[in-house]
Amino acid sequence: MNIVSARLIKSVASMEQCPAGGRPEIALAGRSNVGKSSLLNCLVNRRGLARTSSTPGRTQTINFYLINDRFYLVDLPGYGYARVPERVRVRWGPLIEGYLSRRPELKGVVQIVDLRHPPTEQDVQLYGWLQYHRIPVVVAATKADKLSKNQAIKQLSVVRRTLELQEEDTVIPFSAQTRQGRDELWKLIGQWVEI
Ligand code: GTP
Ligand code: MG
Repeated sequence: MNIVSARLIKSVASMEQCPAGGRPEIALAGRSNVGKSSLLNCLVNRRGLARTSSTPGRTQTINFYLINDRFYLVDLPGYGYARVPERVRVRWGPLIEGYLSRRPELKGVVQIVDLRHPPTEQDVQLYGWLQYHRIPVVVAATKADKLSKNQAIKQLSVVRRTLELQEEDTVIPFSAQTRQGRDELWKLIGQWVEI
């Protein structure tokens, strides 16, 4: 995909604030600090577009990035981080769930997990939930640069097994640092947004 433009259009904290216009959307979902914003920056070749941080819970709103004036990459708040203030945490579940279940513009979800660790219970739940709702999903297993080739192969099967993936389901080993997996992921996203 040739990225001509990428800009943040809106950060929203409720469904009503989501942008109008009907452009297709691809959402990035995963637990807090897994590397969602870094993956987005890697996809669009813009280091500082989405804010990244070693502190979990950085992204707390749904952020809409308009790509090539054609479609949105949607950076979702992370789940599973307990140490954010209660008033922030209670909002996340319904916001993410509301977005994923009631957004006709949503064409697919990139579910991001950490290749180094087995998916968490919440990762498993999200994957099952997306399948149940028949939302197209691809798993990107990120931070692959932190593993040796052999470790990566081993961990990939742990990811597949834990998420209970079928043969035809895709996991893409990914690294925002080396850009491994970037082309493969764009190929799928390109099909989803039909460009
Ligand atoms: P929240 O918005 O807080 O939910 O986090 P996030 O999922 O957006 O994660 P973010 O992209 O901010 O990355 C979290 C940390 O992981 C940062 O310190 C990143 O530099 C690091 N990181 C993300 N992706 C990679 C990767 O592929 N390789 C390596 N080595 N580090 C990564
Ligand atoms: Mg983030």
